[in-house]
Amino acid sequence: MVALQTVLRSNTNIARLPSGLVALFIGATSSGIGEGTLEHFAQHAPAPRIYSVARPQSAAAHEAVLASLRKSNPTTTITLITADISLVSEIDKIVAAVRQKETKLDIFVTSGGFMAFEGLDPSMSTRYYSPLRAAQLLLPLLNAALSPRILAVLAGGHEAQMNEDDLGLRDPANWSYWNAAVHAATMCTLSLERLTRRNPRLSIVHWYPGPVVTPGLAKWYKYGLTPPNQRSQDEGGTRGAFLATSDRYAVHGHGGLVPMPGGLGGVNKSGGGVFLVDADGESIDNEGVLAGYRERAVDAVVWSHTEKVWAECAARKDEL
Ligand SMILES: NC(=O)c1ccc[n+]([C@@H]2O[C@H](COP(=O)([O-])OP(=O)(O)OC[C@H]3O[C@@H](n4cnc5c(N)ncnc54)[C@H](OP(=O)(O)O)[C@@H]3O)[C@@H](O)[C@H]2O)c1
Repeated sequence: MVALQTVLRSNTNIARLPSGLVALFIGATSSGIGEGTLEHFAQHAPAPRIYSVARPQSAAAHEAVLASLRKSNPTTTITLITADISLVSEIDKIVAAVRQKETKLDIFVTSGGFMAFEGLDPSMSTRYYSPLRAAQLLLPLLNAALSPRILAVLAGGHEAQMNEDDLGLRDPANWSYWNAAVHAATMCTLSLERLTRRNPRLSIVHWYPGPVVTPGLAKWYKYGLTPPNQRSQDEGGTRGAFLATSDRYAVHGHGGLVPMPGGLGGVNKSGGGVFLVDADGESIDNEGVLAGYRERAVDAVVWSHTEKVWAECAARKDEL
């Protein structure tokens, strides 16, 4: 386990990184693990240029958070992008806004999304289709950075058997909140592995943060779920900033962010090249599930399904 003190020490060294890091946060509005990660990153980074996404109904509250971040680190430039990531087509708008101003992207943190207990569900778009589309479209900017990193906050290491006949769970008979969580997490890892294989300088961390006390977790209580070992949102954000900036999670030979703290061993990547990381910052081995998917080329099936869904979303938007 990476001790919280080690994480905090590493995060203070974010201040020693070169100035002008560019970072994009999706799912970091007025609360949640993303917001904590944004806060811990923005407070230390020298003159970062940060882009943060909020849907229209959350934009005012998020602007208040951003105003306080600007106060705590006056070297920070933060731009709010208003977009609803339950619509895959809004991702193009987010990427265009960043590309208009930037020629590189150092860090992309995606932590939008929720468990949908109530039925069919934008939770698949917010947790999978939209973040993956953002990652795919952001590749040229990420590849232009010295040590690019994607931190996906979801359920790395918790991949499981999917219904391969209905990857999108479009048939209500196949849908359950649990199946939606499994499909989002498993497709996320398989697709992130595809991205890292094709972009070998890009470090990708798929993190399972464990139970973190956020509005997202509060929804679990309503359904009688009270997971043990809950961590505060501040600790979740502290650990998120560490995972987004520590060279412990760098692609071999492509460090360049915060040097790995002394006393810590390295972490393993999945067979497909992604860091699957648990709540304590350590790697999780889930090859028992993932190797079989790769051997049967299910990752390619997932990718073509994903591209089809993106194309359908774009076509529907054009019809409106
Ligand atoms: N917390 C946990 O215990 C836990 C455990 C395991 C995995 N996770 C996963 O980690 C991720 C983050 O969890 P969290 O607890 O931090 O969630 P959260 O408290 O619900 O925060 C989610 C963030 O996503 C944003 N968001 C939701 N729908 C959006 C939309 N349509 N458009 C734009 N932004 C949207 C929210 O903004 P608004 O302010 O607009 O709502 C908020 O900033 C989720 O994928 C969750 O499944 C969480």
